[in-house]
Amino acid sequence: MSELSYLSGFGNEFATEAIAGALPVGQNSPQRPAFGLYAEQLSGTPFTVPRHAARRTWMYRIRPSARHPTYRRIEAGLLCGPLAEPTPNRLRWDPFALPDAPTDFVAGLATLVANAPAGTTDGITVHVYRANRSMRRVFWSADGEFLIVPQLGRLQLATELGCLEAAPGEIVVIPRGLRFRVGLPDGASRGYVCENHGAALRLPDLGPIGSNGLANPRDFQTPVAWYEDRDEATEVVQKFMGTLWAAEFDHSPLDVVAWHGNCAPYKYDLMRFNVMGSVNYDHPDPSIYTVLTSPTDTPGRANVDFALFAPRWLVAEHTFRPPWFHRNVMNEFMGLIHGVYDGKARGFSPGGASLHSCMNAHGPDAAVTERAMASDLAPEKTANALSFMFETSQVLRASRWALDLPELQPDYDACWDGLPKMFTGRGA
Ligand SMILES: [Fe+2]
Repeated sequence: MSELSYLSGFGNEFATEAIAGALPVGQNSPQRPAFGLYAEQLSGTPFTVPRHAARRTWMYRIRPSARHPTYRRIEAGLLCGPLAEPTPNRLRWDPFALPDAPTDFVAGLATLVANAPAGTTDGITVHVYRANRSMRRVFWSADGEFLIVPQLGRLQLATELGCLEAAPGEIVVIPRGLRFRVGLPDGASRGYVCENHGAALRLPDLGPIGSNGLANPRDFQTPVAWYEDRDEATEVVQKFMGTLWAAEFDHSPLDVVAWHGNCAPYKYDLMRFNVMGSVNYDHPDPSIYTVLTSPTDTPGRANVDFALFAPRWLVAEHTFRPPWFHRNVMNEFMGLIHGVYDGKARGFSPGGASLHSCMNAHGPDAAVTERAMASDLAPEKTANALSFMFETSQVLRASRWALDLPELQPDYDACWDGLPKMFTGRGA
């Protein structure tokens, strides 16, 4: 792992070189790039999308990516296993168990829910990873970009475009197709992955909020160029159409000496999110908590929104302050990084998850509701908790594995049983 060094900003046209003079000046593909490097383009979006949506990076590397042996199909384990029949029922899982056997990040990936075949260009697949050993191999996904949410243990990522480190409370996004290797300096590690098959994640528009707030672009960090010049056997694994394929390279593919472009990995510290909220009454839709969004062709209907529920002050007057009861056309997968989520008194634990599907009712549990209705509504800060939501426009189906887990709670519905009938038929 090299010394970590980052460039700031979101979606910038970055330019970085590990050896001075490795980046060509004034053109992308010179006849003979400096230092005997090869020029290669990584296209993250189709060539002719509008300029504001375009993502591409030019890499100057020791060997071109095309120089590799044939990939062979390997076992995918719990990754993209068969999906069960769709269920409208509300689902909640206790924290996903950590492995006993040596398991690296790739072997530790298990698919929880998905709403599209892996080869399509929209939808998401949500995985959990549970691992305890650093990768020696290198991985990449042809199926989507990886939004990684660590919940337990730090991640050290060596990628083609540089090195990042992320602790619980931070996120990392790896573009579709980019090679990376995950080190686990803390051993036992767990977290969530939203594999986004649709349009690349970007910052949401701010509308009347103006030019500041929510996730500010300057807080996103992209690594500087870094490379390995290693002529040694390296297993490279790709995820392709929901299956895994491996090839034995005779060198490390993390050999990019310089690059420029905006198709690049990045990290973000969730505690830098500038939370917006109501200062008189009611509270806004949870879209106000959107960190990143993958848009669809329909304005406002996200393929997936990544929303964050961070510590914040509640000050609204004569208001039911918890996340209200609701039914939503969108589908909500939630995870908890640490603390106690303000919508549930118990049962939603760090490292666990919940799923609330299209139009199926949910909201605060009975204990939170009772407390909220009795509160004196003084200004109050929510608990020091971090939870998040992958909110997606298509119904998520759980994998058979996820529905067979002992962590799946059989009695989740019961958390609303204690809501009493309070109707009197008489005015106040
Ligand atoms: Fe909800």
